[in-house]
Amino acid sequence: MKTDNATYVERDLAHVWHPCTQMKDHEHVPLIPVRRGEGAWLEDFEGKRYLDAISSWWVNLFGHANPRINAAVREQLERLEQVILAGFTHEPVIRLSEALTAVAPAGLTRCFYADNGSSAVEVAVKMSFHYWRNVGRGAKRRFITLANSYHGETLGALAVGNVELYKEIYQPLLMDVITVPSPDCYEREPGESWAEHSRRKFAHMEATLARHAHETAAVILEPLVQCAGGMRMYDPVYLQLLREACDRHQVHLIADEVAVGFGRTGTMFACEQAGIRPDLMCLSKGLTAGYLPLSAVLATEPIYAAFYDEYVKLNAFLHSHSFTGNPLACSAALACLDIFRTDRVLERNRALSAHLGERARTLADHPHVAEVRQHGMIVAAELVQDKAARRPYPWQQRRGLTIYRHALSRGVLLRPVGSAVYFMPPYVVTPEEIDLMVEVAREGIELATCA
Ligand SMILES: Cc1ncc(COP(=O)(O)O)c(C=O)c1O
Repeated sequence: MKTDNATYVERDLAHVWHPCTQMKDHEHVPLIPVRRGEGAWLEDFEGKRYLDAISSWWVNLFGHANPRINAAVREQLERLEQVILAGFTHEPVIRLSEALTAVAPAGLTRCFYADNGSSAVEVAVKMSFHYWRNVGRGAKRRFITLANSYHGETLGALAVGNVELYKEIYQPLLMDVITVPSPDCYEREPGESWAEHSRRKFAHMEATLARHAHETAAVILEPLVQCAGGMRMYDPVYLQLLREACDRHQVHLIADEVAVGFGRTGTMFACEQAGIRPDLMCLSKGLTAGYLPLSAVLATEPIYAAFYDEYVKLNAFLHSHSFTGNPLACSAALACLDIFRTDRVLERNRALSAHLGERARTLADHPHVAEVRQHGMIVAAELVQDKAARRPYPWQQRRGLTIYRHALSRGVLLRPVGSAVYFMPPYVVTPEEIDLMVEVAREGIELATCA
């Protein structure tokens, strides 16, 4: 059987329906069959290599085929691949729960597992709603979310998200949520600091909480970076104000750290930069260093206690997924946390993110780049048609796709989201590789905006 790229593409397109894809695009957009990965690089079946500048949808932390994580998963595989987590337990899930509660903001003492980010959001939303019911405040059943937020694709997660492209069609199927303006600092006034803008925007949240707290279970948000909403960023002060207001109004704060957790914004969790502890925290993606599907919702002791009762009261959280807390995924997560600890990853990332920011900021000189923004290891350049008016290109022109295709031709995986050309590389990336990804982005931006 032939093993060239074209053969795999043909076989794939005969049966595979790809995620988040208009399949007809593949009549002209190349599909890349990947044979292997190593470090920050992916390799196709003809030996062409691609620098993974987006960590394969923001999941990979320590490179593909990382020897330490491979060894941990292999070792676990010889002992136990999967076991039901209701009524049974296993060492990796126990150790992981101990490790997660040790690194998470103090007070998050309980871990509930699922197997992807959307499911973690479903769990957090159900848990918050159910908590209020269990404590006799069943009227608190609504959720407050930020404009332009993203929390996943399952119906509950889609409902509490706000990216129109993914949500609009399914609106008739979704629960009604309360949406407040985002603190997105791209929209700040000239001369206004991130903190001033974020603080000013908080007035909308405060007014909404004052009006709806009696019927609201929780506020859910992505701390510091709205990733799928175009890498829009805001200041930690917003989280401080929100924590204080949620306490005052007796509303839960759900931090969706699925994308920003595990060092992406410079700290282990983005919430740390505001010095706050959410009531529920959703983790996935980097949880296993991008190795295997796993997610966790960390909860406080009072939330856990509200479900702890005689069975016949039917107060228990009867939510489950078949692969909840899978041992192989937990072993990858343990190896990931071990690397964080032993290799002083957050410290080393400071130099990497400084280099990334410095290089990427040169893109701001381009006549079609409105700004370059950064939170730690996430850096984004905002593409615009008119720099002075900050007018975006019509989305139908798909200029990001031109950048994507150009980058592939140069051996770099860049995948602009909305108008943002961004970098979110694995932490094993080198300064030279950072230079390459920024240079290729510059060429792509030039090509995409020259006509
Ligand atoms: C903030 C956030 N929450 C939830 C999700 C959903 O995670 P998953 O794709 O694993 O369902 C994503 C995915 O990108 C995300 O960025």
